[in-house]
Amino acid sequence: MSATARTSDVEQTRLLAAAVAGLVRAGDLLLLVGDLGAGKTAFTQGFARALGIAEQVTSPTFTLARSYTGRLVLHHLDVYRLDRLQEAEDLGLAELLDDGGVVVIEWGDAIIPVLQPEYLEVRIVLGAGDDDRELAFRPVGSAWAARASALTAAVAPWS
Ligand SMILES: Nc1ncnc2c1ncn2[C@@H]1O[C@H](COP(=O)(O)OP(=O)(O)O)[C@@H](O)[C@H]1O
Ligand SMILES: [Mg+2]
Repeated sequence: MSATARTSDVEQTRLLAAAVAGLVRAGDLLLLVGDLGAGKTAFTQGFARALGIAEQVTSPTFTLARSYTGRLVLHHLDVYRLDRLQEAEDLGLAELLDDGGVVVIEWGDAIIPVLQPEYLEVRIVLGAGDDDRELAFRPVGSAWAARASALTAAVAPWS
């Protein structure tokens, strides 16, 4: 089962992400999937805001990973520049997830073989207009499957 949503400006994407953040708990993993400019970082900004993170979240493309502290710790990764899966292993993802935080990975679909099989995939694609986006949420594994209906309800205002 997967939930879908549409937004027509960047702030709506942030608000939608904030609604999803209401469902997360320590140890959760979100994979953000979509082309450059789809809105993966924008989604993370709204998500972070809802976790009480005041600091501005920017793309971690050149740093690979940044951590922010709010209601939960948010580890924000962007693995676009990784050449090899080995480098993903070197990021110490297991430690980040064990650490009681939430991990959000832009381009996370590229490193699925090194990830735990429990995550929420958020796929963002461009819509018809310049600012239109379509988002599909796909729970993978039992931890997210158990929250599927809560997720559908959370994103309902945008579906
Ligand atoms: N509905 C929308 N949702 C998200 N971003 C949007 C939307 N409409 C326009 N944008 C713009 O698209 C760009 C998305 O950039 P960004 O979040 O950095 O993408 P990514 O991280 O996927 O490469 C931003 O400039 C943002 O203002
Ligand atoms: Mg980005």
